[in-house]
Amino acid sequence: MSEPRVNELMEKIVSLCKRRGFVFQSSEIYGGINGFWDYGPLGAELKRNVKELWWTSMTRRRDDVVGLEATIIMHPQIWRASGHVDTFSDPMCDCLLTRKRFRADQIELQSGTAYHYTGARDTAAGRAVTEPYAVLLPAGKPPESARKTASEFYRLRGLAQPELEGERMEKVENSQRFNPDNGSLLTEPRPFNLMFKTYVGPVADEDNVAYLRPETAQAIFVQFKNVADTSRQKVPFGIAQMGKAFRNEVTPRNFTFRSREFEQMELEFFIQPDEVVEALCGTVATPSGPGHPGEPQRNWGWQMWHQYWVEERIRFYDAIGLPRTTLEEYWQKPEELAHYARATVDLLFKFPFGTQELEGIAARSDFDLSQHERFSGKSQGVFDEDLRTAWGKLPEERRQELSGRYHDARLKYLLRAGVPAEQAAKDAREDADGLAKGQYMPHVIEPSAGVDRLILALVANAYSETTTTDEKGKTEVRTVMRFHPTVAPVKVGVFPLLKNKPELVAKAREVHGLLRGDMLAFYDEAGAIGRRYARQDEAGTPFCVTIDFDTLGETPALKDTVTIRHRDDGRQERLSIAALKDYLIARVR
Ligand code: GAP
Repeated sequence: MSEPRVNELMEKIVSLCKRRGFVFQSSEIYGGINGFWDYGPLGAELKRNVKELWWTSMTRRRDDVVGLEATIIMHPQIWRASGHVDTFSDPMCDCLLTRKRFRADQIELQSGTAYHYTGARDTAAGRAVTEPYAVLLPAGKPPESARKTASEFYRLRGLAQPELEGERMEKVENSQRFNPDNGSLLTEPRPFNLMFKTYVGPVADEDNVAYLRPETAQAIFVQFKNVADTSRQKVPFGIAQMGKAFRNEVTPRNFTFRSREFEQMELEFFIQPDEVVEALCGTVATPSGPGHPGEPQRNWGWQMWHQYWVEERIRFYDAIGLPRTTLEEYWQKPEELAHYARATVDLLFKFPFGTQELEGIAARSDFDLSQHERFSGKSQGVFDEDLRTAWGKLPEERRQELSGRYHDARLKYLLRAGVPAEQAAKDAREDADGLAKGQYMPHVIEPSAGVDRLILALVANAYSETTTTDEKGKTEVRTVMRFHPTVAPVKVGVFPLLKNKPELVAKAREVHGLLRGDMLAFYDEAGAIGRRYARQDEAGTPFCVTIDFDTLGETPALKDTVTIRHRDDGRQERLSIAALKDYLIARVR
């Protein structure tokens, strides 16, 4: 088996995705639309399998997580409370010559000589433009080239025959101020909010502005109370949601990796603040080392829960075919953390274009619920009778200590949130006094994954090529998608050995009918059996079943048996039709 070179791999993946119907460019017949992708028949199945596996492992297999399915458009105030209206932006700049748009922080660093101009004059027409401009040339390029570009710039501003003015040269190192394609000066970076805006109702004015959600998380926070009240869950518990999210990315790139419309799978797992755990359990457990900390315990603090969810998520990826060795854990440095986050671990995957984030697991403190409490004016805290009882039994010194710590954390949040100092002090005191009444604001651990990125990671990880040589010495390179059986779009191919033998076809149809209610089974009778295997290998189908003359009883001992061929090693085994369904179900679910 040969590994394609990294720089070719992405092209091969994109081409396979289109050729086999995994991913198509959105609106392709109209020239496409940048940052939007459609999933074809195989891609839709792959995506559905991945989401189903996430949902099952996150909700149905757990007692402490329930689901939610919220709307994409929500009250615009939610995005003020979450900080998205004010801060969810990327720095953006444009080329002054071509108007091409860049994300200012992603422009590659350039060095060379910058040629600055104060303006230009068209003597014949008696007109001048005083807008300054500059062009960066790499070392060794003649100044004439800068002058040509600058003349073009002033021509675009209305001068037919510009004479450049005030030329000045400057050595520049590691600059992001010039277009890497043509050396032209870029506009100053300016913040660009990534939320897609729309209007609700017939009047398109500021009063009716709404946003397409840029993450699924906020709906979970704003429905926290309803879910807690109706599901009979008690903190610690989680709410899971998957669905579309929209971000008007400045530069969508790397196929589906950074899209403008994508899907997220998010869990908000609500936990007790450490002070509450201590009041209830005496002490709070913290991690004693790396690795999975085991089954959740009542005395876990936020660090244990955080580590638990990092490990749970790694186990999930491992179970669906992205082994631990394909992932990297990146602990964000303190200066990289969002202001509300206590710790964030990014799970990175080695994509063909570089090692990049697949999922983030953030310890978000009590920021989100607190924000929604302030903005909505509705209490988001919880009441816990056990806490009230435990608090009553604590020695006074311990109460002082715990409520002091809780007070300080609340005060810090309130001041950061911009609450005036006097009000913040009053509110923090009230919050701390609430502990005695069994009241507190839950904290949150958030594992947040992108469906599309995961699909891309699974496709990249599954992609492999095999070279076969036939009897005549002719070699052929074939693609085999080595998907884990649980995510593979088609689970089994069903073939009659020959299509012109009605008995074989009838039996193969019967076997296909037997399987299709429980898994995606693909019937194929066209072409030589080797070709049919190759087509299924390319689709990533883990098993192929062939109905031959022995199935019909030519060798009596083999009557009603079929051969199962395994995609990854080409191994074949004989199995009775009666045992086939259970055999496959055990491997593909
Ligand atoms: N609620 C937290 C949150 O949304 P994020 O890191 O911005 O955090 C979480 O997004 C995940 O969503 C990312 O790890 C990634 O998998 C996916 N994601 C984010 N932006 C994306 C985009 N433009 N295209 C595809 N997936 C994206």
